[in-house]
Amino acid sequence: MSERLLLAIESSCDESAVALIRGGREVIAERVASQTAIHAPFGGVIPEVAARAHHEWLPRLLNEVLQEAEGLGIASTIEGVALTTGPGLVGSLLVGAGIGSAWAWARGLPVLPVNHLEGHLRAAWLREAADVDAPTLPAIGLVVSGGHTLLVRIERDGTVQRLGGTIDDAAGEAFDKIARLLGAPYPGGAALSALAAKAPRGARITPLPIAKTEQPYDFSFSGVKTAAIRQALVASGLNDRSPGRAATLTRQFAEYPLPEEGAIAIAAATEQAIVGALRAGVQRALRANPDCSLIVGGGVAANGPLRSALASVATEEHRVLVVPPMKWCTDNAAMIGAAGDALLRDERGSYQEPSAGLEVHAQWRIGSAVPA
Ligand code: KG4
Ligand code: ZN
Repeated sequence: MSERLLLAIESSCDESAVALIRGGREVIAERVASQTAIHAPFGGVIPEVAARAHHEWLPRLLNEVLQEAEGLGIASTIEGVALTTGPGLVGSLLVGAGIGSAWAWARGLPVLPVNHLEGHLRAAWLREAADVDAPTLPAIGLVVSGGHTLLVRIERDGTVQRLGGTIDDAAGEAFDKIARLLGAPYPGGAALSALAAKAPRGARITPLPIAKTEQPYDFSFSGVKTAAIRQALVASGLNDRSPGRAATLTRQFAEYPLPEEGAIAIAAATEQAIVGALRAGVQRALRANPDCSLIVGGGVAANGPLRSALASVATEEHRVLVVPPMKWCTDNAAMIGAAGDALLRDERGSYQEPSAGLEVHAQWRIGSAVPA
């Protein structure tokens, strides 16, 4: 196994992160600064505010990681700098890519562009203890986060084939939007799940419909949101009003709060619908790919019922499931270092001169070399 030492920077959304990775699996040092508290009052990430926060925080985080590297006497052995260059918020990506490129240039080191989604998948290779086995390939990979819902097949040589993904809202986005309706602050996925857990055992949950998609591995979650809104309107006695815009609804629900049992029932139905759809998609993919193990990444992988559902699907289909520890499911730089190492090892990516200027991409379909 390669023992290459990579510095990695992640800044695609609202986490500023820097890490030092050896051999693609060992995290030597890492820092993650979440901007959640800054964006929470707005109910979502404000791109301009996110870029400024990255600009303020990344140099500090970089300095701290490098100080650790110097303390270990390994700073001079860093081989290159892996940088998230998409998909994500362009301003945020530019700040991370700019700071990373400037540092690399000053040290005479090359830079390596990394796809953020490839990072989420490669988080499954990071290890906390020396004896943790790496996932086996080929594998079916599921990425479920606030911005993405993606199902892929990863080949033995590391190439990634996109099987499907959401055609509208991401799974985390659906959790967050419905959580907001139920009065939880952004991002509300975990709060919604906690509310759903209050549903009495065996309680009858009115199911929320999951729209059928044309492609077998695609998902659609916007219908869940609409159905949840309708249930909420009924539960709060506002059923004679047609659903208005999100802001109007939030105001309405602030004025006519849902009774707690209503909120619990909607939270439980939401979680059941989203988890059920993800489970079904993963099971379809595993059945069509009998040679594959299963890996999962992204912030929604923190969801307890989803973890249980995927564990049960893996058992049913006799597959090995690897879910990274929570700190590497949410956005972090260690996963970018792991992906960068895999790209170099598999010769799917190559170093670039930092002085040539890195392009960043709001959209970058996983598995394609050229952003499209
Ligand atoms: O991967 P991540 O940290 O950021 C993005 O790249 O989007 O994922 C954040 C998402 C948010 O939508 C958040 O509500 C969701 O993950 N999330 C959860 C849970 N914990 C975090 N969703 C459902 N249940 C949870 N326990
Ligand atoms: Zn992410």
